[in-house]
Amino acid sequence: MPHIIDGKAIRDYNLELMKKETAALNAQNIYPCLSVIIVGNDPASRVYVNNKKAACEKIGIISREYALPEETTTQELLNLIDELNADEKVSGILCQMPVPKHIDSTAVLNRILPEKDVDCFHPLNVGKLSAGNGTVMPCTPMGIIKLLEYEKIDPTGKTCVVIGRSNIVGKPMAVMMSQADATVTLCHSKTVDLPSVTRNADILISSVGKPKFVTADMVKEGAIVIDVGMNRDENNKLCGDVDFENVAPKTSYITPVPGGVGPMTITMLMRNTIEVAKEQAKL
Ligand code: GUN
Repeated sequence: MPHIIDGKAIRDYNLELMKKETAALNAQNIYPCLSVIIVGNDPASRVYVNNKKAACEKIGIISREYALPEETTTQELLNLIDELNADEKVSGILCQMPVPKHIDSTAVLNRILPEKDVDCFHPLNVGKLSAGNGTVMPCTPMGIIKLLEYEKIDPTGKTCVVIGRSNIVGKPMAVMMSQADATVTLCHSKTVDLPSVTRNADILISSVGKPKFVTADMVKEGAIVIDVGMNRDENNKLCGDVDFENVAPKTSYITPVPGGVGPMTITMLMRNTIEVAKEQAKL
């Protein structure tokens, strides 16, 4: 029987630790504060931003929201970021993506000071991550590292295959698993004979964005399978990349969707906010 990794329970465990850490910081007059910017009226973004604010509240991080209208210009957004960069009370800044098409999103993300970049999107932080000396970590891959840690799964010497090479999940995931001493292969849409590669994986991580993309024939007996997908199936039901019903019996550990990786992403945003607040206080 596979062990189904309970992302909600591991989230709650981590948030509880962070709540204590925030209280200890408050006792030293350090008040971690996250500023979230949302531009326009995208309903999914509104849900994400509300969830981020709720997580802050739960552990005692101060949250500020800046909701800007759809017609906001790049310059207006840059001006707000400059203000927040200069505000000593603000530890972390996050601009919810996507922003409306007329806004230069690269200019926006690069304007957030690396010291306040809780998404780990700034090129300096991406470079630091790659060199292995970063403070902030990309939230979804870091969440997966925490899931593995909680389950006492040591990646050392294991073969890890990551499917999907996005800048926010696949690429940093491959870097972090390599730093955790796994032997890593990063696959993508041009990979030849993907099943022959994934069948070697002791740890298989999928961030493709296609329902039932990972089928049972692609998975080694006893593998650990981590599903980053957030898709809708033919009945509009939330599902991951993995054909869970048929894959799960072959695995030793597997994450469900929902309730696996998802809950850890915002949890790691909280972690990054605490870490930048500590660094700014020179702790
Ligand atoms: N939109 C969807 N996911 C994210 C995220 O992790 N950070 C930001 N800034 N925007 C997002």
